[in-house]
Amino acid sequence: MSIFLGIDIGTSGTKTLAMDSSGKILADAMETYPCYAPKPLWSEQDPEDWWRATVTSVRKVIKKARLKPADVKAIGLSGQMHGSVFLDKNDKVIRRAILWNDQRTAAECEEIERRAGGRKKLIKMVANPALTGFTAPKILWLRNHEPKHFDKTCKILLPKDEIRRRLTGEYATEVSDASGMLLLDVAKRRWSKKLLSALELDVDLFAKCYESEDVTGQLTTAAAKLLGLTTDCVVVGGAGDCAAGAVGNGIVNRGILSTSIGTSGVMFVHSDEVKIDPAGRVHTFCHAVRGKWHMMGVNLSAGGSLQWFRNELCQADVAKAKRQKIEIYDLLTKEAEGVAPGSEGLFFLPYLSGERTPHADPDARGCFVGLTLAHGRGHLIRSVMEGVTYSMRESLAIFDALGVPVRQIRASGGGSRSPFWRQIQADVFGRKVVTINSEEGAAYGVALLAAVGAGEFKNVSEACAATIRVVQETSPDRTARRTYDRAFPVYQQLYPSLKDDFKSIATL
Ligand code: XUL
Repeated sequence: MSIFLGIDIGTSGTKTLAMDSSGKILADAMETYPCYAPKPLWSEQDPEDWWRATVTSVRKVIKKARLKPADVKAIGLSGQMHGSVFLDKNDKVIRRAILWNDQRTAAECEEIERRAGGRKKLIKMVANPALTGFTAPKILWLRNHEPKHFDKTCKILLPKDEIRRRLTGEYATEVSDASGMLLLDVAKRRWSKKLLSALELDVDLFAKCYESEDVTGQLTTAAAKLLGLTTDCVVVGGAGDCAAGAVGNGIVNRGILSTSIGTSGVMFVHSDEVKIDPAGRVHTFCHAVRGKWHMMGVNLSAGGSLQWFRNELCQADVAKAKRQKIEIYDLLTKEAEGVAPGSEGLFFLPYLSGERTPHADPDARGCFVGLTLAHGRGHLIRSVMEGVTYSMRESLAIFDALGVPVRQIRASGGGSRSPFWRQIQADVFGRKVVTINSEEGAAYGVALLAAVGAGEFKNVSEACAATIRVVQETSPDRTARRTYDRAFPVYQQLYPSLKDDFKSIATL
């Protein structure tokens, strides 16, 4: 029997699943860990927590599915993108990893643009502008603010690649995740020597870069023993969680777009060629499909916005849901369902962690705009879901304007599990939204990449065609769609209206 493991080192936890060669999921397990915010808009995690969660979840999956160690042929790794793990000469983690949703690096983004000779030249080198969440600005931040730590740094790895190092002893990464470091020549799929030299960073600080389906190593004796597997088990490149999720959704051909609502919200579209937004509003990264690319727009606080609402404003309901053994989000969406589309003029700007697409502004702040005495909690909840979805529509509008074809929209991620939020998506986008037979997203995507790497499928497209199919469709409601078409331009105007105020707030 051939079994493939997909491991996704996410922000709220690590999820592992076991898949057989027909694509069937045999078992899964999730282990959570904390996220630290030592200062407002900072976001850090301890790589030790990722490792613990990886080991525990793999062991749980092996036990649940009663796998024989030798059956597990390959592992695929996925993870939150852009995070920086700084290692010393003994491979010891120097400080907590700085994450994708950390906003401390505005000055370093300016420094990168300056050193690159301007924004246009930078986009030419690495296909993207400097954004606070990306890895390169974090490295410069370390050099500027914690020089003692920087001087000790011998390797800089992305979250999933640190787990790979602990599994295989190899320093390796792959093109999809490496694209988000802002140091990869995305068009040529290799490190950008030009930018590295402009930033005075040695290429040896970085891992060897593979294609996502390539084998990057095999389990060390110690890792195999710890996990309960054999050293014959190989580890393939895998992918950043966005590209991995896209593979798990079958977004591997032209014209298919996925919306994903996890902590972040991602609009992801496949592209056969390198297409670059000259304004740098959406990202162009290498896809986890050999020789292909993708474009994406990211909202930093999508499901994260509703999660914040739940944590801060619904504690009594959390307890009630627990008592009644129901999902807290089901309770909250029920309340929102009683409110008409458009939330009676209430808008939510989902910038709780600053904003990435399309405004790239670390100073942007979350807000409710338009509150009246007539608004109740149901309106607040509905407007949070609508605000996140408007923000995703902004990416869709950019893809349309750039002429990127979108024939089908596939909804995924925790948020899209809610039929109510899927309906809001169909209504706000004004297009049909479909779901597929698997909800496992990134972990499933990298299990498929592992199967390709182990020779079970010829390529990623074949693996997706054999395992993924559309199972459900949600069509837009005509009346709701009209309401949202009128509300969307108002939403779009709110950021430009508030931009200067956000700047002033940030200086307080
Ligand atoms: C992508 C991004 C996020 C993280 C979240 O650019 O920043 O989606 O990968 O896991």
